[in-house]
Amino acid sequence: MTRILGIESSCDETAVAIVCKDEVGVLHVEKSFILSQIKEHAKYGGVVPEVAARQHLEGIFAILSHEINPTGENIDAIAVTQGPGLSPALRVGVETAKALAWIWNKPLLPISHMEGHIYTSWFVTKKHPEFPVLALIVSGGHTELILMTGHGKYERLGETLDDAAGEAFDKVAKMIGLPYPGGPQISSLAEQGNPKAYDFPRGLLDRPDLNFSFSGVKTSVLYMLRKNEEKLSGESFRADVAASFQEAVVDVLVRKTQRAVTQYRPKSVVLSGGVAANKALRERLKNDIENTFKVPVFLPPMQYTVDNAAMIAAVGCYKIQNPSCVVSPFEVASNPNLDIFGSNLELNCKPQV
Ligand code: KG4
Ligand code: ZN
Repeated sequence: MTRILGIESSCDETAVAIVCKDEVGVLHVEKSFILSQIKEHAKYGGVVPEVAARQHLEGIFAILSHEINPTGENIDAIAVTQGPGLSPALRVGVETAKALAWIWNKPLLPISHMEGHIYTSWFVTKKHPEFPVLALIVSGGHTELILMTGHGKYERLGETLDDAAGEAFDKVAKMIGLPYPGGPQISSLAEQGNPKAYDFPRGLLDRPDLNFSFSGVKTSVLYMLRKNEEKLSGESFRADVAASFQEAVVDVLVRKTQRAVTQYRPKSVVLSGGVAANKALRERLKNDIENTFKVPVFLPPMQYTVDNAAMIAAVGCYKIQNPSCVVSPFEVASNPNLDIFGSNLELNCKPQV
């Protein structure tokens, strides 16, 4: 039995969790606390890094002291988001984790936030995704197709050449006057709209590679709105725009994933990142891939599509078995540009053979 304390502070959610992996390898989320800062940042129309850091500082000790055993008993290691994310925000979680690891004399595991998102599919059922796993990561900062051949073994198959899918959702939401964060707003407005009302472009679909581009669809929405300014106050017009935009994004995500399945023949597909909360994407990815390829699609439980610390602790449950992933607290620094494969070579975990 392995029990890991996870800490996450990369953006606008302060989160602490305890996850344990039992003797047969099943993950159990024992505790998971998330303090959302959305209300704080909504006033500014987006996340303000310094405001986020201050909120993390206030929240992290409140969660630790009120919800988590402060003696560190029964905890085998501390896993913390090292990056990518907002520098001042990440620093709060990393420095807190370092202090706890030092005082409790526990190993520290620096984790990539994106790797955490991938592991949310390990919470789905007792049956874990089988390798090789194809991961579609769709978040506010990333859109990537990753082939995972084992725990900690990744190969990037494709990525966005400009905006991330979540970023496009947020920008289009702003254009049609919806508040931050725009993704969930677009998706609920889209439910009342006609997805075939406007034919927005499907970026890079005509190219054989697995890269994405979402700036074209975003600009196309902008031009269409400029031409139809007088209609913008109409609820049904805005719903049609939201539904058609969502349809274009989902179409590209699903078709590129299908292409990756054809080329790489994974045994399972996992969806991850904040945009994994999108109902249209969840339904289409599951139906299209399972029906066409008979490959199981794992959709993360909704509560783990938002940034959380359980996913960071989950990665820690596997990394602790690899001695090169365990580091001294003094060696760890937050890294806003951390790649999923680890950009700091000193700390880069070597895949186990
Ligand atoms: O994973 P996440 O917290 O961001 C990063 O780690 O970068 O994802 C946040 C993104 C935001 O862009 C948000 O608008 C989007 O996920 N999002 C959604 C939905 N829920 C969140 N996008 C589309 N539909 C949703 N239901
Ligand atoms: Zn995230």
